[in-house]
Parts: sequence; structure tokens; C-alpha cells
Amino acid sequence: MFLYGNEEKQKNIEMIAKRIEVCEKCPLNLTRTNTVPGSGNVDSPIMFVGEGPGADEDALGEPFVGRAGQLLEKMLKEYAKLERNDVFITNIVKCRPPQNRVPTQEEVKSCQSYLDGQIIVIKPKIIVTLGNTPLYYFTGESKITQSRGRFFNWYGDIKIFPTFHPSYLLRNQSSTKGSPKWYAYLDMRIIGIMYR
Ligand code: URA
Repeated sequence: MFLYGNEEKQKNIEMIAKRIEVCEKCPLNLTRTNTVPGSGNVDSPIMFVGEGPGADEDALGEPFVGRAGQLLEKMLKEYAKLERNDVFITNIVKCRPPQNRVPTQEEVKSCQSYLDGQIIVIKPKIIVTLGNTPLYYFTGESKITQSRGRFFNWYGDIKIFPTFHPSYLLRNQSSTKGSPKWYAYLDMRIIGIMYR
């Protein structure tokens, strides 16, 4: 059987998801309800990478479906003029860290081959990192306020575009000029332009 384009990418992404489903490489497999491999458009030029699944994501097996995800979707729609399914959304780790703590470096390393595989299959032009964990993973930088809205070169032609994590925006509601939300809206506009 020969598979072409989107269909082949979809198959490969599903294959990675199946491997994640039975993964026991780190202790997060002991406390997860579901694995959360990621979902969306495998042909998207833009891939979003968050930190790790929360309680809602763990319950449903889908990334960014809780309050943070709803805000991400709303911002995508209003500022980037994109639907959630226009882009591919995943996380650094594919299982929920207990109490939503930051994943350890060991957990991140255990999960690395899955994220690498997803990037190789999807071949995004831009990876949008949400918050500090993926920012550090891809760029080695640790200050989102200084790194957001800039393009970092990564491997090949892939660029990294850091922005705020939507959970941070939920805790910082002001959207006055110069606030994190105001910058996040600006970043979303840039993402919308880059998509097209
Ligand atoms: N926060 C994340 O970083 N990822 C999710 O999937 C949900 C919340």
C-alpha cells in the first residue's frame, strides 16, 4: 500500500501516538489516566508545544482542553484568525505530572523521542512554545518576558517563536498596553500572518 502526503503523515503521527500509549519510560506512566500525544492538522506549518497535560487533558487524552486550552482557542480565533484544528498542538511531556508540577529533566528526556518524531513527521516551519518549559527545551532561555515575540533559529529551517502560556494569562487578566495578555495578542497576530 502506498500512502501520500497528508495520509502518510497522519499514519506516522498515529504510530507515534500508539507508542506513547504503552510507554513506561518514566514514572509518569504510573499516575496517568490517559496519555496525551497531541492532535490537530498534521500538515500545519505551525506547531504549538505546551508543557504537559493537566487534569482535564489527562481525563480526555487531548491537549489543551481545560481552561487554558479554551483561552488558547479563543486567542487563535480572534487574533490569529485560525481554528484549533488548523494547527497541531502537543506538549513536551505526554503524561500528566502529578499536581501539575513542572516535568523533571529526566521525564523530559524520556519523552524527547516522541516530540522529535512528531516534528520530523509534521515538518513545521514554526514551533510556538507556550511558557517557560518548552522555551527552555528549545532555546535554553528561561525568561519568557524577554524571549517572547522573537524568532529563534532551531535545526534545519525551523524557527522557534515563544509566547506566554495561556495558564499564565489566566492568572494575569489585565490586557492593557504592555501587559502579558496584550503581548500575547500581538504574538497571535504574528502567528496568523506566518500561517498564511
Ligand atoms: N497546559 C499545558 O502545558 N498543556 C496542556 O495540554 C494543558 C495545559
